[in-house]
Amino acid sequence: EQNITPYEAIGEETLSHLVDSFYGKVQKHPLLSPIFPDDLTETARKQKQFLTQYLGGPQIYTEEHGHPMLRARHLPFEITPTRANAWISCMKEAMKEVELEGELRDFLLHRLQLTAHHMVNTAENAE
Ligand code: HEM
Repeated sequence: EQNITPYEAIGEETLSHLVDSFYGKVQKHPLLSPIFPDDLTETARKQKQFLTQYLGGPQIYTEEHGHPMLRARHLPFEITPTRANAWISCMKEAMKEVELEGELRDFLLHRLQLTAHHMVNTAENAE
């Protein structure tokens, strides 16, 4: 009845498992692994912080790293539409794996799709 945030609805534990599962898939993805560091510990830690605040939880990413400026932070990497789709497909698999389902899953996926699309900074044929 109280308005709880999507962060509270998903819960810290599920969010953490989601991010770990996601980077496990990124690490194995032929289009994604080459642009990520070999050790994704720190990347996963930052992503947990980011998604916490993205979903209405405490602003822990900003407290440690400042304004997310996500598009700017992604400019060093060639993000094509195909790479954005690969990112989303890893996320969908991770959602399945941690059994994030229903409206919450659809809500989060929709928002991530918009954000992923916004990160595209390189045309397909530029690769
Ligand atoms: C960092 C790729 C979409 C959030 C990174 C890094 C790469 C990357 C290569 C650097 C990893 C590191 O050095 O630790 C991509 C690709 C995407 C994508 C290919 C496809 C569209 C997204 C989306 C979000 C996101 C949709 C948020 C919902 C982040 C965050 C970081 C990050 C929070 C850490 C930034 C920091 O260093 O503080 N991403 N990303 N990314 N990405 Fe993405």
